[in-house]
Amino acid sequence: MEPFRHHVFVCTQEKPEGVPCCPANGSWGILQVLESELGAQGLDNEVQVSTCGCLGLCDDGPMMIVYPEGTWYRKVKAEDVREIVSAHLESGKVVGRLAWTDSPAMKAAAMEHRDRYRAMVKARDEAGTLPDDLNETIRAFMPSRAVLTALELDVFTAVADGAFAEQVARKVHADARATEILLNALASLKLLEKRDETFFNTGVSARFFSEGSRDNARPGLMHTAHLWHRWSTLTECVRVGTAVESRREEGWVCDFIAAMDRNAKERAGAVVKAVGAGAIRHMLDLGGGSGAYSIAFVRAIPGLKSEILDLGEVVPLAQEYIRKAGLAERITARAGDMLRDPLGENYDLILISAICHMFSAEQNRELLRRAYKALAPKGQVVVQDFILEASKTAPRAAALFSLNMLVGTEAGSSYSEPEYASWLREAGFADVRRVRLPGPSGLMIGVRA
Ligand SMILES: C[S@@+](CC[C@H](N)C(=O)[O-])C[C@H]1O[C@@H](n2cnc3c(N)ncnc32)[C@H](O)[C@@H]1O
Ligand code: FES
Repeated sequence: MEPFRHHVFVCTQEKPEGVPCCPANGSWGILQVLESELGAQGLDNEVQVSTCGCLGLCDDGPMMIVYPEGTWYRKVKAEDVREIVSAHLESGKVVGRLAWTDSPAMKAAAMEHRDRYRAMVKARDEAGTLPDDLNETIRAFMPSRAVLTALELDVFTAVADGAFAEQVARKVHADARATEILLNALASLKLLEKRDETFFNTGVSARFFSEGSRDNARPGLMHTAHLWHRWSTLTECVRVGTAVESRREEGWVCDFIAAMDRNAKERAGAVVKAVGAGAIRHMLDLGGGSGAYSIAFVRAIPGLKSEILDLGEVVPLAQEYIRKAGLAERITARAGDMLRDPLGENYDLILISAICHMFSAEQNRELLRRAYKALAPKGQVVVQDFILEASKTAPRAAALFSLNMLVGTEAGSSYSEPEYASWLREAGFADVRRVRLPGPSGLMIGVRA
């Protein structure tokens, strides 16, 4: 029984560089064209498309199989997809010139490929070669550094609608030979395209890395570029047990808040939904940063007023984000230290988002005790952060983020669900619960008795 008229599998099995495979021959592009063609023909509810692992005929990729007929198409090109969609998927006629029907030849090719692959794996194993995934982890700093440098220099904006390396170098005030090496590397990462000697932005780099694009993420990503310098001190931090580099590059605060804002805007809808509107009239947003969460809450809850408490250097930035959102009447920002200064009282909701990882366990206990006192009866505290499982080895993003706090703070870290739960209960909170959200961080919620 088939739930769809057709089920198409496109092989997207990645293999080590230099080993033949469908993605190296363009199977991701085929998949994209297939999906847009099915949409254009109104067939996307009739045809199910799935990616699949190696079909054993890697020298003839991209491979595609169409069920229920079991037709194997090989060496499919983008321009063939339209024909497969209209002839086969729409009208049921197999495209003979692309279909591979010689079963004995297919089996022989698959077995020959399999034997070659096994021999290669055996030879590598005997030679003591590092596994590819391990090697990739060790060298992952290379692509990362290339992209961060390109962002620091604003290379993608300089490439604009197409430019020679020399033109880009001139615009970003860099050396022409070195810029060309960088641009070639970015093209190998598929963040640029090179045609003849001209470099062009790809869809992704034009959208996310170029000045003037609505989704330009560069301002926020500059914070990641700053983090690079701190991460270089990790070995020393592990030796001495705390951050050793406190110097901040120019623009640090602005870039940091821009990064927080981007991240918060993506998550705020889910956080508001998880907390629920309830009878929230007055909220305190501790270390509210750009104010993105306060903005989302007051937009969702009529009559709600929010106060942000943040450091003096951040308050003017928060006020500017709030002014741009047109919410200065309902969100105020004041300067203060959440660990020492009065928090205020009678709040229905206190949000502590992306804060606890900056502090030690003892500071967090104290912060939650202070939050408890500042809430009205039945008021809720909502902590959003990376939340580790009890073993502290997962999720990976949270475990790695703990290192980010080691290199960046005196005593910060990611913390586990049992740690948050015990701090909340010690502070007096009842109904302590964890809410899992899509993405790397989650919520811990407690209610003042
Ligand atoms: C990681 S950001 C989180 C921003 C925001 N809550 C969010 O989730 O997007 C941490 C914020 O806490 C502020 N902060 C750090 N230490 C603080 C303190 N002792 N008192 C008040 N705010 C502080 C920082 O200035 C920054 O805006
Ligand atoms: S990688 Fe696609 S058939 Fe092997």
